[in-house]
Order: sequence, then C-alpha cells, then structure tokens
Amino acid sequence: MNMKPIPVKEGNFNLKNYDETYNNFDWEEVKKNFSWHETGKVNIAYEAVDRHAENPAKKDKVALYYSDPNREEKLTFSDLKTYSNQFANVLKKYDIKKGDRVFLFMPRSPEYYMSFLGILKVGAIAGPLFEAFMEQAVEDRLQDSEAVMLITTPDLLERVPQDKLPDLKKIVLVGDTTGISGEQYIDFHQEMEQASDHFDIEWVDLEDGMLLHYTSGSTGKPKGVYHVHNAMIQHFQTAKWVLDLQEDDIYWCTADPGWVTGTSYGIFGPWLNGVTNVIRGGRFTPEDWYSTIEKFKVTVWYSAPTAFRKLMSAGEKVLKNYDLSSLRHILSVGEPLNPEVIHWGMDVFNKRIHDTWWMTETGGMLICNYPCMDMKPGSMGKPFPGIEAAIIDNDGNQLPPNQMGNLAIKKGWPSMMRQIWKRPEKYESYFVGDWYVSGDSAYMDEEGYFWFQGRLDDVINTSGERVGPFEVESKLIEHPAVAEAGVIGKPDPERGEIIKAFITLNEGYQESEELLEDIRQFVKKGLSAHAAPREIEVKDKIPKTRSGKIMRRLLKSWELGLPTGDTSTLEE
Ligand code: WT7
Repeated sequence: MNMKPIPVKEGNFNLKNYDETYNNFDWEEVKKNFSWHETGKVNIAYEAVDRHAENPAKKDKVALYYSDPNREEKLTFSDLKTYSNQFANVLKKYDIKKGDRVFLFMPRSPEYYMSFLGILKVGAIAGPLFEAFMEQAVEDRLQDSEAVMLITTPDLLERVPQDKLPDLKKIVLVGDTTGISGEQYIDFHQEMEQASDHFDIEWVDLEDGMLLHYTSGSTGKPKGVYHVHNAMIQHFQTAKWVLDLQEDDIYWCTADPGWVTGTSYGIFGPWLNGVTNVIRGGRFTPEDWYSTIEKFKVTVWYSAPTAFRKLMSAGEKVLKNYDLSSLRHILSVGEPLNPEVIHWGMDVFNKRIHDTWWMTETGGMLICNYPCMDMKPGSMGKPFPGIEAAIIDNDGNQLPPNQMGNLAIKKGWPSMMRQIWKRPEKYESYFVGDWYVSGDSAYMDEEGYFWFQGRLDDVINTSGERVGPFEVESKLIEHPAVAEAGVIGKPDPERGEIIKAFITLNEGYQESEELLEDIRQFVKKGLSAHAAPREIEVKDKIPKTRSGKIMRRLLKSWELGLPTGDTSTLEE
C-alpha cells in the first residue's frame, strides 16, 4: 500500500489528463464518432470494418495479421469487408435472421473473424465457444441459447451432440469436408466461392443483441451473458484511452475470442479505432510470444498475469534472443497483477504493465491504469471516465476509503450486459438498488485507487493481510480435537474481514472456551497471528460437496444471513 508509485513517462497519449477528463466526461459525446445510418440505426460490424473499408485512406491498411505455426495471412479492411459480406450472404441464404443465435466453435483463424463479422452484419447474435470445450460444455451452451447454427471445423464435430440439439438446424464446416454428408452441413469454402461480396447490412438499434458469452458461476450451469450493439461506445473509447491505440499501432491481444477479452478487445476495440490487429493462434510458449512481438513489431500488447508470470519464469535467457523494442504500451487483465510482475516488466521492457479490471458481465473495461496516470503497483487503477465505481456493503451503502466491501458499479454504462439469457431472476440478482455488484471484494484508497482483494467468498483479507482459507483449514485439522474445518472471511468494520472458522470435533472432545482458545493458539503458532481465527464455531457437520469440497460459500451465507443459492452439489 505504501509502495512507491511508478510515475508517468512522457508520451503523446490519447488521454492527456485523467482527472480533468473524468470530471467532464459524457458518453453522449462518444456517439458522435459513429456513422449513423439514415434510418437512425447502426451496426457494430459496420463501425469496425466497413467504415474503414469505405475510407480511401484506410481501405488498404492491414486490419488483421493472422499467424499460427502452419499459416500466415494478411487482410486489409477492404478484404475483411468483402469476406464478411460474403459470409453474411451465406447466412442469409440459409435463412439466418436478426436475433438468431449463431455459434462459433473453432480455433482462431481468418475464417473465424470473417464469420463473426458476417453474423453481426445480418443482425444475428454471435456465440463464441472456446475450442477446448468438450461435449457437455458445448451441449449446455447450444441448448440453453437455442442456437440454430454452428460454425465449426470437421475435427471438432465429434464434440457436438447433434441428437441433443433440436434447434440446431445447420452446421457450417470450415475445413476439408470429404466423407461428411448430411443435409445439415454447409461447406464454408464452397459457399464463400459462390457468395456475392455485396451485402445490405441489417441496421439495428443500439439495444439489439449482438453477442452471447457463456460464463461459469460458482454453481449451476453456465449462464449466457447477453451484450448489445451499444457496447461499441465503450469498446471504442476504452481502446482509445486505456489501450491508447493510435493510428500506426500494431496491436496484439493474446486472448481467444471464446472469452470476452478476445471479443471486446481482440475484435472490437482495435477495429472500431481502425487499428492493425495481430492474431496469433496456437499454444503458448515464451519463445512464440516473444517472436510474435518481434516479427509483427507489436507496439501495444494486452495480456494476462498468468502469461506474464510464465514469461518471467522463463528468464532472461529466452528474452535476450528477441528484439522487443517495438513495444510502447503493455496491459493486463483477468486476475490480480502482482507488483513483482510489474517490477519485472520495468526491468526487462522498461515499461509499466497496466492492470485493467472488468468482467464478462461488464462487457468492457471499468477500472484501469492509464498511461497518463501514476501507477500504484498492486492497484487496479481508477474508474474509466463515465464510470462510477464504489465499495458498498451488502445493503448498497457506500463505504468510506480503505474499507473493504463489494466492488460495485453504478448501473447504466454502455457495455453492461442486458440479460442473462432466459434467466431474468439471475440477472436481477446482480443488482442492489442502482448498483451492479461484481462479486469481487476491494477497497478504494484516499486517492481513489481501487485495490482488488479477492472473490468475496474465498480469499480473506484481514487487516491488510491476505489469508487463504485452505491454509487455515489445513492447520486447524492438525489439532487433535478438530475433525473438519471450514474457514471464511467475516466482514469487520475495523479489520476489513476477520477469520471465522467452523469446525467439528473429534469423538471425546467437548466444546469449551478453553478448548477453542487452545485451537486458536495452535493456528497462531503454526501459521501466523493474523491467520488465527478470531471466531470459532462448533458445528455438527461442515457442509461439503459430493466431491468433498468444503462449501465456504454456504458457511458464509449462513453467517451473513444471505440466501444459500444452489446447493445441488451438497453431499447428502
Ligand atoms: C473476474 C472476471 C474481463 C476480463 C477477463 C476475466 C477477476 C478480472 C482483474 C484484475 C484482479 C481481476 C475478478 C473478476 N479479475 N480482472 N485486474 N485484478 N482480478 O473475465 O472471466 O468474467 O472474470 O476476474 O475476480 O470478477 P471473467
């Protein structure tokens, strides 16, 4: 917390002054960047691609550098317009209409991006599925969304349980279709050859659907997070000010479009800004990543802490073989960005790694570090202009600085999800009054920087110390009296959270003040003072899943008097 901030380095950034901009910002102004059709409607695919393809100065600019170990392609904005128009015509031929769900289940490839844009052009809703999904995952998502079409590769077809998907009428196959027959199959390349490259875009309202990203909750089946064309407003502006995308940038987002980062910032962010986008397929290796930066002279790089940590542990020997001098701006998302990683980045790239915080449900970045702002390593940064972020208690009351609570966002930002597909009650459960509650715990310091503390039900922060419940539980059960233990963080006005342990006792032990104090001391001596539970409650049973995992969530719900949610995995 009192770590020294890393100051701004001089640069000609798109966002010049955070505070001034934050205080004077209006989303309505951002809309002026878009070309409204004469009908008063828009289409995000038009804004991302066709608009640039129709601009003589931009049409031959490279929109996409695609590469994987077996393939290299280069597509201009004009090419992308042509191919996505052709695919939109294929969709139309097979009767895909506005609002239909069309899913993509395949590895990254140029065809992926043509198809994705084609889906949007007909006004349908794109559902990206991560290529590593197995049969059950594919089934759950296609079934729930009632998808009518799937775009996949012949290799992945065996993971699509067609007999269980009555709504799925057509399957577009990208790849060699020899030996595959059936009325439902459509050969991508064959159809594209015959398709016209002229297409009349389906102009839609900003509130019309465009994207369905399935994401897992802690319990139950995955839920379909529904996003609308209006999200373009946020994608455009966050890419401009956080990614700091500028005309000559070569931008690389390492995320797969099966995840929201790979759509919001692997497709929309760069292309809405008319910037060259690098897509690298295949598996992660440090050599591969460094060589991608070197080869394409990547200037802006958006990745994740896990990857940075892997690169860090690969060491300087690997790093030294590459020329990474093109990099000018590096960003991270998805999990806490450790200060060590930031310091590593300063050492090896002489660049700050900028953390950004958001979620599948939020559709776009909300809390970020900006190139023009001093950085406090370990902090997620400050709310994007137009975003009101706060730390609230469970009743929706705002908490003062330095108090840990629910990280919440005032609802109504442009890229906010508009539905959980077919589950309105689930959608409603995200909101307390006007606040969208993220499920993350955080605090804000006096200077308005936000600090992530963990998912609310797992990692514990007590008096500024982070404690993993598993560690405490493991220690507790080493005590001769303790049979089982479940540990949670209990909100505390002074310490943020205190550690509370629920235990069951072994045969022959009786609950008493002395015994509980002995157990407390045992943990204190075995682990550390701050990890010792301040409260211990003896139970007859600790709730566990059938696979034997302690249901801390349930313990916490009991403790806080909250609804217990889905307990279908609870053991009998
Ligand atoms: C959860 C959302 C949207 C990007 C990919 C993840 C965690 C996200 C950060 C960050 C600490 C972070 C949160 C959040 N998370 N960014 N900068 N620091 N934690 O999207 O799969 O919907 O997960 O990822 O816990 O709630 P997601």
